[in-house]
Amino acid sequence: MGSDGGLKRGFWSMGQLDRELAESLLESARRHAAGPRRSAILPATEIAALFFETSTRTRVSFEVAATRLGATTIHFDSKASSLSKGESLQDTVETIASFGVDGLVVRSSAAGAPQLIADWTGLKVVNAGDGAHQHPSQALLDLYTLSERLGSLEALSGLRVGIVGDIAHSRVARSLMEGLNLFGAEVTLIGPATLMPPIGFGPAARMSSDFDECLGDLDVVYLLRLQQERIGQGLIPSFGEYVARYSLTRERYRRLKPEVVIMHPGPVYPGMEVDSAVIADESSLVRSQTRNGVFVRMAILEAVFGEGGRE
Ligand code: NCD
Repeated sequence: MGSDGGLKRGFWSMGQLDRELAESLLESARRHAAGPRRSAILPATEIAALFFETSTRTRVSFEVAATRLGATTIHFDSKASSLSKGESLQDTVETIASFGVDGLVVRSSAAGAPQLIADWTGLKVVNAGDGAHQHPSQALLDLYTLSERLGSLEALSGLRVGIVGDIAHSRVARSLMEGLNLFGAEVTLIGPATLMPPIGFGPAARMSSDFDECLGDLDVVYLLRLQQERIGQGLIPSFGEYVARYSLTRERYRRLKPEVVIMHPGPVYPGMEVDSAVIADESSLVRSQTRNGVFVRMAILEAVFGEGGRE
């Protein structure tokens, strides 16, 4: 059982999972990957997808996942909504809740918004990314994809994972660190000093501003996009400066261990955080991460909206 009572009220944060609950969600995702494409696990369940920030992978994979479980998703276009007429977020979500839907999948630029919306509406809410705070479905799909490549979840123990780039503004980094910590991996955060996280950002991790020095030690290189939309003025390194020190160029790639694994949550800005030839190489799990997002999100939706929710 998760530390705050499982996922019956929703899934906002990796902090809700202990190792056992994370393992059971990943096991459920494996069953969905191996099982029939469609099922009637969530018949007559209506889930509104409220994305107040842009998204391709997360949004569509949640919609595909819900459809495959027999649920119906209700599309909400925040740009075409009354939010643009000045309606408040609370009025907007309460309006949608009044239609009697069963739950919401929410992406917002405001940290904590999914939990707040769950409190306002009384509905189950799944977090699809909130500001620089959490992106728990991404962390689970990353754990799933890594364990698939390595053959087991146990293989994560002692694994050396370097998370590279704009750590301070990354909900992906924060959630993934928590997930990796559950399975005993060793994380090093690598990036420019101005994009390093504040103390208390996540579980304890080594920090380095010298990617070159770390290269030979890493089993996994997890690259992040520079989240320009969240970075304060003056803190964004120039393209040339960033590529010179932090891009996974072909030259740096050659200095990594032969069995290294490359990951990126997408969207990738080719030539910036990574060379496009490296992303296309067989050590790259980027395509698998995207594909596995559907199975992991099926497991999450089943746990939250299935019979009584998962304890
Ligand atoms: C990430 C996100 O939106 O947090 N992408 C994703 O969900 N696949 C990372 C990013 O935008 O850089």
